Amino acid sequence: MHAWLCETLDGADALRWQALPMPQPQPGEVRIAVKAASLNFPDLLIVQGKYQFKPPLPFVPGAEYAGTVDAVGEGVKHLRVGMPVAAIAGTGGFGTHACVDASRVLPLPPGFAIDDGAAFAFTYGTSHHALIDRAQLKSGETVLVLGAAGGVGTAALQIAKAAGAKVIAAASSDEKCALCMQLGADATLNYSTQDVRATLKTLTDGKGPDVVYDPVGGDLAEPVFRAIAWRGRYLVIGFAGGGIPALPWNLALLKGASVVGVFWGDFVKREPKASAAALAQLAQWYAQGLIKPVIDQRLPMSELRAAYTRMGSRQVRGKLLLVNP
Ligand SMILES: NC(=O)c1ccc[n+]([C@@H]2O[C@H](COP(=O)([O-])OP(=O)(O)OC[C@H]3O[C@@H](n4cnc5c(N)ncnc54)[C@H](OP(=O)(O)O)[C@@H]3O)[C@@H](O)[C@H]2O)c1
Repeated sequence: MHAWLCETLDGADALRWQALPMPQPQPGEVRIAVKAASLNFPDLLIVQGKYQFKPPLPFVPGAEYAGTVDAVGEGVKHLRVGMPVAAIAGTGGFGTHACVDASRVLPLPPGFAIDDGAAFAFTYGTSHHALIDRAQLKSGETVLVLGAAGGVGTAALQIAKAAGAKVIAAASSDEKCALCMQLGADATLNYSTQDVRATLKTLTDGKGPDVVYDPVGGDLAEPVFRAIAWRGRYLVIGFAGGGIPALPWNLALLKGASVVGVFWGDFVKREPKASAAALAQLAQWYAQGLIKPVIDQRLPMSELRAAYTRMGSRQVRGKLLLVNP
């Protein structure tokens, strides 16, 4: 087998594509022949030691992947050799094979494409937990999605539409905004060129968005929070822009608004039944054609460094896949 090995926390340039002994699954584990892995923003952070989860060195990065089970460890009952599966494992996906705890493996339902399985649970799970669970989004409400052309952003846009909401998709270029319109957004906001507060006022008849989905953070947060509707919910998803915003709390008072934290990884661990129910609803929406991962590019697994560069320079639209032949 081959895999990208992270031996020092010096970023993607320090990763090495190495031949490794084929791993054998331990009790409770399965081995997966990886067909595709997707890149998530935390994959950029973890190889720099900047993510909240810090695996011991050396490790193989790649939080999310899909393929077929090719060996089953002792005690695993619900997975068999040959089954198509997706894994949310935190690490291990950027290679040809990976051993993983069976509890982190989801069998793919019939009709679920393996490439889509590699690009699904992380982003759609996060966005479903955020919008449906944490924000209690109601049909007819208006959602503003920041970074709407990115991984979690495209998932949030599709989920908000599936839930009957109106979506304002916000992104940093006209090209990204055009993609969001193709994906069903009702309106767009280019935050590189347009006045954020004035545009949101016009687009919502002065009322403001009911829910804000923010995976970007930085300087955008305050003008957006100032535009939020009465009883608005501001979802704190992440800080891809780099800066962690600090807000004057009087703004929350004046709008009767809530700042709502979202941590999907802990939600899955702490509330496994609720997480399984959310994934079941997402699988149903997928089968109905209401949601589908937007694939930016499929790069060979050997081109992982180019994939990291593309994500780090804000070029990815939807999800970037690394595929094995
Ligand atoms: N809370 C949770 O449970 C959870 C779960 C999953 C992910 N996340 C977080 O969500 C964020 C997005 O993850 P993702 O996988 O969707 O990433 P992504 O596909 O790269 O999307 C991030 C978006 O952020 C915007 N952005 C602004 N400044 C950026 C910069 N300097 N570098 C890169 N992007 C920048 C970009 O949109 P524009 O160019 O349009 O601005 C980009 O499309 C990350 O912070 C991640 O850690 C949180």
